Amino acid sequence: MESLLIENGEIVTALDQFHADIFIENGSIQAIGADLSISADRKIDAQGHYIFPGAIDAHVHLELPVMGTVSADDFETGTAAGMAGGTTTIIDFVTPDRNQSLLEALRERKKVAEKAVSDYALHMAVTWFGPQTAKEMERCVRVEGIPSFKTFLAYKETIGIGDQELIAVMKTAKALEAMVTSHCENGDLIPELQKQLIDAGKTAPKYHAQSRPSFIEGEGTHKAITFAKATGVPLYIVHVTCQEAVESLIKARTSGQTVYGETCPQYLLLDDRVYEKPDFQSAAYVMSPPIRSKGHQATLWGALKAGQIQTVATDHCPFQLHGQKDKGKDDFRKIPNGAAGIENRLALMYTYGVLEEKLTLKQFVEVNSTRPAQLFGMYPKKGAICVGADADLVIWNPDTENTISAKTCHHRCDTSIFEGFRTKGAPTWVIANGKVQWDEGNLKVEKGAGRYIPRAPGSSI
Ligand code: URP
Ligand code: ZN
Ligand code: ZN
Repeated sequence: MESLLIENGEIVTALDQFHADIFIENGSIQAIGADLSISADRKIDAQGHYIFPGAIDAHVHLELPVMGTVSADDFETGTAAGMAGGTTTIIDFVTPDRNQSLLEALRERKKVAEKAVSDYALHMAVTWFGPQTAKEMERCVRVEGIPSFKTFLAYKETIGIGDQELIAVMKTAKALEAMVTSHCENGDLIPELQKQLIDAGKTAPKYHAQSRPSFIEGEGTHKAITFAKATGVPLYIVHVTCQEAVESLIKARTSGQTVYGETCPQYLLLDDRVYEKPDFQSAAYVMSPPIRSKGHQATLWGALKAGQIQTVATDHCPFQLHGQKDKGKDDFRKIPNGAAGIENRLALMYTYGVLEEKLTLKQFVEVNSTRPAQLFGMYPKKGAICVGADADLVIWNPDTENTISAKTCHHRCDTSIFEGFRTKGAPTWVIANGKVQWDEGNLKVEKGAGRYIPRAPGSSI
């Protein structure tokens, strides 16, 4: 395998910032030091660039079957788009059908994922709890390298679970020293509000948001935290969007409970005026939870800066506006939920986080790479720049300016919810497992080159 010497760059990790060269061979970091002068097959002059550990997106849905369709990016196109933006590892989900064996669903999902161009791991969603589920969860943790279990409080009609099932998942995960992750919206209240709106003839996309108000996420968050407290399991709340949820999170954390939060760029940067866009364009923003009113953004940024929210992921789950989202032209309940973001996360968080002084550069590394690696059992192979770590690196030019557009993004989707956003800072080179995958604007990925990453139980810190 080609060896690589990166010279003159400024390394930034969650803890340190210093100038050093990095020597890479056989897919991992072999040496870090000043003026390494080691001969290598290729040299990169990283003068004027930062070097970050490869970003980890701990929440994506590639090729997700939903509402009779499938999310538009498959494992190849989705991970390729990630690579172009500096994401070198993703965590997707196994989502078994009700009554399906978790392990059978895992085998199927791994087959689907084989074409990934970047490394990938999987969370296991527990969508029902049968007589075999505890044993299957044990195998997930002990044999399959899956120490995190996703629960949906929403989507009761398909994959969401009830209280008894939630308790069973949490008790089992606790015994296995695993993490439970939760989508926190009350799954009984939403259909009730949806029905009221539809009965009143309110069918347009903007009513999706009205059917899922922030207080419903607040209730769901408080409930998941309460159940986690009672069972003692570490809990990770996915896609936190609002003040009510942050308040619950902070209260629990300051009481000493082990609970973590994740947010996404769309909740930090967009507000609910997107639902006023004309001609069904607003359907592009139909996701769950929905985009909130502007007031919530400052709370999310503040919680991120204070370390009360630990990670930023994308919940990347694109659907074409024309041909998929338009199935819900006359009924917002039929619009497939989700949007693209995997390629844009780092540039957005750098531009609107670091450059606007809402995050330090080290915090930027922490929330996008190091904390996801630690919480989900991949550290320090991932999320770190140290000898022995996987050679997953982002060599970042802080001066590169771009304007986001669906036309130039690598994701497979006819729209971008960040269309027109100006960014400053972008990767010049992205290296994964020692290979240059994004090379000064050229994507050099290889279908199937990504490896499945079995994970250890996370460090829960
Ligand atoms: O709308 C969304 N977020 N779709 C993906 C599934 C989920 O709830 O995360
Ligand atoms: Zn969700
Ligand atoms: Zn999701």
